[in-house]
Amino acid sequence: MSLPMRFWIFVVNLLCLPLHLIKAVGLYEPYKRIFPMYVNRITMGYNKKMQDKKRELFRSLSEFNKHGGPLTILEIGCGSGANFEFYPAGCKVICTDPNPHFQKYLEKNIAKNEHISCDRFVVLSGEDMGSVEGESVDAVVCTLVLCSVTSIALTLREARRVLRPGGAFFFIEHVVADPSTWSYFFQHVLQPFWYYFGDGCEVTRETWKYVEAAGFSDLKLRHVEAPLIFIIKPHIIGYAVK
Ligand SMILES: C[S@@+](CC[C@H](N)C(=O)[O-])C[C@H]1O[C@@H](n2cnc3c(N)ncnc32)[C@H](O)[C@@H]1O
Repeated sequence: MSLPMRFWIFVVNLLCLPLHLIKAVGLYEPYKRIFPMYVNRITMGYNKKMQDKKRELFRSLSEFNKHGGPLTILEIGCGSGANFEFYPAGCKVICTDPNPHFQKYLEKNIAKNEHISCDRFVVLSGEDMGSVEGESVDAVVCTLVLCSVTSIALTLREARRVLRPGGAFFFIEHVVADPSTWSYFFQHVLQPFWYYFGDGCEVTRETWKYVEAAGFSDLKLRHVEAPLIFIIKPHIIGYAVK
């Protein structure tokens, strides 16, 4: 990391000192109530810009229904249910998220998407999905979540555990930019502020390295430039088969 970059990260950290203090004394928690409302709004715009990519990716979901019953999808960090409109008709979705305040928005999106059914909403983190039986789902979906989890490796291990053999892990995640770009510089400099704005979101993660190392048998992973603001422009999209 270059010296100017270290300097500016230090400056932004200083400016974020009140936010660091607010978190340290436990006063950041109320933001967890507001965050779902804000995610619900933002994802409408995100879906508009990413609809072609989402449609193309989720078209492959049906290939992983090998048993003739309804396709079972478990979504990690489902948020307000932004992916539902792209799921195949007749599928059953197990919705999970550690933030219970998403439920209100989730229910609205379930009602809007009559072509799918929600099996249940479980409040849990991706790192510990112990209440979900092993080898019980056809697909696991994770979009814009691996930037916020405490451990990507544990979350991917849990995703593999709940998947049936031959099932697939689907992902769309923003990642760190190429180190030779200004985006990389600004991602690192703005990270201390972005963390609070995005409820723990980190834009500097090399998430693809974890997906590559997670032990899936077959991995289809593409690096794409999403039509979004620079800080979340670099994305990885794809799926990995258990
Ligand atoms: C930016 S939102 C994305 C929501 C949704 N997946 C989407 O694509 O619109 C990030 C989501 O990750 C969830 N999240 C944060 N930490 C998590 C964790 N450790 N395990 C699972 N989900 C987590 C948040 O509660 C939030 O719903």
